[in-house]
Amino acid sequence: MKKLLIANWKMKPKTLKEAIVLAKLSDDKDIYLAPPYIFLQSIKNVLKKATIGAQDLFQENPPKGGAFTGAVSAAMLKSIGIGFVILGHSERRALGETDVIISKKIAIACESKITPVLCVGESEGIRKKGIEEAMRFVAEQIKNDVSSIPKTVKKMIVAYEPIWAIGTGNNDTPESASQMARHIKKILSDQYSIKAKVLYGGSVNSKNISEFAKESDIDGFLVGGASADPKEFKTIIKIIKSI
Ligand code: 13P
Repeated sequence: MKKLLIANWKMKPKTLKEAIVLAKLSDDKDIYLAPPYIFLQSIKNVLKKATIGAQDLFQENPPKGGAFTGAVSAAMLKSIGIGFVILGHSERRALGETDVIISKKIAIACESKITPVLCVGESEGIRKKGIEEAMRFVAEQIKNDVSSIPKTVKKMIVAYEPIWAIGTGNNDTPESASQMARHIKKILSDQYSIKAKVLYGGSVNSKNISEFAKESDIDGFLVGGASADPKEFKTIIKIIKSI
């Protein structure tokens, strides 16, 4: 089965010039790139094969825009052809984004026909209490985050990103990430009749991606640090395409 590969550049690279170089090197069919807002349009203009997405959107989408300084709406993203959006990333949750806000964003993305990529995942403290505790936590996040999702939505992408694995070099094991992927799919299917694709994220690199890719319940990857490293990401693309 083909695996999805999404690059979350986070707040990298530093300049538009570097961003364009990185985008051109990552421009491949079935690759999804999420650059910072400021680079979206310029990168969209140079991409020939990859799909472009955003790292966030604002939780209000009034028909005529609104007084929300610094915010970017779903309508704005849609108007430049943005296809997907990463929502609920733990780095945004750490900045104060609540499940209530995330659920509004998910609903707005769906209504605007922008595919949401919902990020969930437990902290190190929770995981230390065992995988069952982590599964309970993730189930609660999903319940809260999809609470306003339109009933018409039948498909979804969720990224399981345990916080302790993000940017630490301490990735989850393919087995337990796969167990969590099954758990997420079952919740969404049983309780919401949604068929979910589940990605794994957290210190994915060219050395460990093949092991994760062997797991049939892991449908792809949300890659952070390694996706902003041109050589490393090129190798990752090569591996994923050869599967
Ligand atoms: P790293 O790949 O740098 O661990 O980041 C994962 C992530 O947060 C992707 O959204």
